[in-house]
Amino acid sequence: MEFPVVRVCDLSKYIGQTVQLRGWVFSKRSSGKVKFLQFRDGSGIVQAVFVKGVVTDEGFDGFEKLTQETSLTLTGLVKADTRGKTGVELDAKDLKILQIAEDYPIGPKEHGPDFLLGNRHLWLRSRRPHAILRIRHRFVKAIRDFFDNDGFTLVDSPILTPSACEGTTTLFETEYFEEKAYLTQSGQLYGEAAAMAFGKAYCFGPTFRAEKSKTRRHLTEFWMVEPEVAFNDLDDNMVLAERFLEYTIQTVLKECQAEFAILERDTTKLQNVKAPFPRISYDECVEKLNAQGIKFEWGGDFGSPEETAIAQMYDKPVFIHRFPAAIKAFYMKPDPKSPKHALGVDCIAPEGYGEIIGGGQREEDIVALKERLHAHGLKEEDFSWYLDLRKYGSVPHSGFGLGLERTVSWICGIDHLREAAAFPRMMYRLRP
Ligand code: 4AD
Ligand code: MG
Repeated sequence: MEFPVVRVCDLSKYIGQTVQLRGWVFSKRSSGKVKFLQFRDGSGIVQAVFVKGVVTDEGFDGFEKLTQETSLTLTGLVKADTRGKTGVELDAKDLKILQIAEDYPIGPKEHGPDFLLGNRHLWLRSRRPHAILRIRHRFVKAIRDFFDNDGFTLVDSPILTPSACEGTTTLFETEYFEEKAYLTQSGQLYGEAAAMAFGKAYCFGPTFRAEKSKTRRHLTEFWMVEPEVAFNDLDDNMVLAERFLEYTIQTVLKECQAEFAILERDTTKLQNVKAPFPRISYDECVEKLNAQGIKFEWGGDFGSPEETAIAQMYDKPVFIHRFPAAIKAFYMKPDPKSPKHALGVDCIAPEGYGEIIGGGQREEDIVALKERLHAHGLKEEDFSWYLDLRKYGSVPHSGFGLGLERTVSWICGIDHLREAAAFPRMMYRLRP
């Protein structure tokens, strides 16, 4: 007899029916004559109860052969079960083994991070990575929904590029036929071209930085979403960023309750992520840090101790704006009221997660932009197409980049960025 093929996440719609599931052994145990199988299919985990006489003899014997991660099809009667989290349980009727798994390296015992990362292709099946990646997926969808519903056009930037966007020290270089190419550090420069073509545009893709540091906050490959808007100034940019963070985080909070429970994430602080966020200038930050006894000299860039100290003064993400122009990228517009400050803005996440957004208002004047290129030791020829944007109807414009893994780490409350990517890339990790 044929039974409907169902996924675990849909089982509650089939109470009282016999169905077929396809998946893997999560774990099993026996207690006297009754045997219990925790069965997973990627959409969820359900318990199947094996009782002699209810299940076929082949199925009952098959249970003994099941090892962790053995693949199988399972037929059973769906029953309501108020004790379990899923609300359903199966009375197993039959099982067919597809492949008996060899001794599986990941067990219930504690494993070290190196071992788990080396087995990341298998570790993805465990509850914790599964929950984190589901939250990441839901967050990515919320990001796209926000921009798509706000009149933005998706215009993706190239990954192979001829020049640097974010300084020359973290470039990955590759041969490109007769010349050199670099993996993109940010899609921004192309995003600016897209903003002049579409008014409001965003790109969302992988970006690369040869970070030689081994910190919890740096990957060599990470995803960035970068909106860019013609006619927006620095203030408009902050309004966009706070609306965007409020929408995406509140959506994930609503829709990922089960995943947050698996991670034991206390989400009360995330509930505070509602616009408006505090806006503090760099100069005010320097004063506040020194007032707290954290010695900091004007002109330097904030590191994670400073970012954490500032974040702790508030219960929401914080905008820091108007950094010293000298420490910021060539494309940032100096503040007309104080040219030693650049119209840049970072957004600092609470709970010590540091900078999740970097952005600002771009220099739209061709003469000023050329001066800044030279000051940064960059060649005009390398940016000739970018300079064209200032020749043909230049307008004020702004944008920002949000680091996906940084933000997912914060949302999930995890200590290290590497768990926010399915296959993280760091200085010492290229495999699997
Ligand atoms: O502040 P960044 O360098 O800004 C830019 O690249 C701009 N061009 C973006 C724009 O305005 N369109 O990087 C933006 C964000 C950071 O705030 C951080 O969240 C993330 O990208 N990020 C990293 N994430 C993981 N690993 C790294 N090595 C990262 N470097 C930056
Ligand atoms: Mg930055």
